[in-house]
Amino acid sequence: MTDAAMMKAVIFRRYGPPQRLSLQEVPVPRPAPGEILVRVRATTVNRTDTATLRAHPFFARAMTGLLRPRMQTLGMDFAGIVDGLGDGVTAFQSGDRVFGLLPERFGAHAEYLCLPADGALAHIPGDLRFDEAVVGEGAWYASSTTGLLSEGQRCLIYGASGAIGTAAVQLAKSRGAEVTAVVGMRHLDLAKRLGADRIINYEDEGFTSIAETFDLVFDAVGKISWFTCRRLLNQNGIFAATDLGPYWSNILLGIWFGITGSRRVRVPYPENAPEFVRYLAELMAEGRFRGVFDSSYPLEDIVEAFRFVETGQKTGIVVINVQ
Ligand SMILES: NC(=O)c1ccc[n+]([C@@H]2O[C@H](COP(=O)([O-])OP(=O)(O)OC[C@H]3O[C@@H](n4cnc5c(N)ncnc54)[C@H](OP(=O)(O)O)[C@@H]3O)[C@@H](O)[C@H]2O)c1
Repeated sequence: MTDAAMMKAVIFRRYGPPQRLSLQEVPVPRPAPGEILVRVRATTVNRTDTATLRAHPFFARAMTGLLRPRMQTLGMDFAGIVDGLGDGVTAFQSGDRVFGLLPERFGAHAEYLCLPADGALAHIPGDLRFDEAVVGEGAWYASSTTGLLSEGQRCLIYGASGAIGTAAVQLAKSRGAEVTAVVGMRHLDLAKRLGADRIINYEDEGFTSIAETFDLVFDAVGKISWFTCRRLLNQNGIFAATDLGPYWSNILLGIWFGITGSRRVRVPYPENAPEFVRYLAELMAEGRFRGVFDSSYPLEDIVEAFRFVETGQKTGIVVINVQ
């Protein structure tokens, strides 16, 4: 009997702060029938990872494990090389460069991972590097809101400098919407580069006093509420947010407006990750979507990366390079 091949993976066995994470040697997983084995070259630390590590909000434990996490390795985004195929896989070959998402199972903070060949993955378009292809998490969350837009509609994206906000501007533009981006001073140029039609600095302009109304106001960083910006909404305008809002107001208002039938406040949850990743690959191949990257860390320094992401100050995406 041969010894199982080993790999490095970032393990956590209890919810809590980043120091609960430790780099350990564990067996390389084996692809089951219909699965592929990916050698991970890049992943990210994002707000889903940090929230899951701390089990925040508390009710998320219903999905991730009540007392202890069901999964032991976080990491939702990956880019890497196909290194093994389970029985019956024909869509990929060993050596293919792929990227994708692991929304339910996580597991990308490791040297290898397995996932179903029909899961949320696609070939990396063109000559994009691995660290340029780990763009899924923020874009997937953004897509659940930008999917509400149609050609010619007007939207305001508040906090257009985070992972979700930078993706939201590009996805809204790709749907033909007119975009007003609200960002801090240091991100004005970034919002312009992403294609925003109008840019407002939240530090020196009261964005709620502009004389315009929108079909959609999207709070991409969980900092405003329907109460502060309802006058920016046109008659059928929707307020959508990535977060629960103060005192869970977004959830409660969402339920209330759902009962009244108007659905004016929403906290959309993204769906159908496999289809979205393939759509994102098309957008990237056409040069209509590019990730915005803040900084990168080696896998060994992942605790530091978690600490930084938890500050809520990153611009776009924080990459982990896995050698
Ligand atoms: N529970 C979950 O599983 C989950 C998952 C994903 C996302 N989310 C939520 O979705 C939100 C966005 O996630 P993300 O990954 O896109 O965030 P992020 O990348 O961490 O967002 C950071 C950006 O927000 C900007 N920002 C901070 N305060 C701001 C303010 N008052 N007004 C406008 N911009 C501000 C920062 O720029 P400056 O401060 O320099 O202006 C920074 O560029 C977060 O609230 C997160 O909790 C939740």
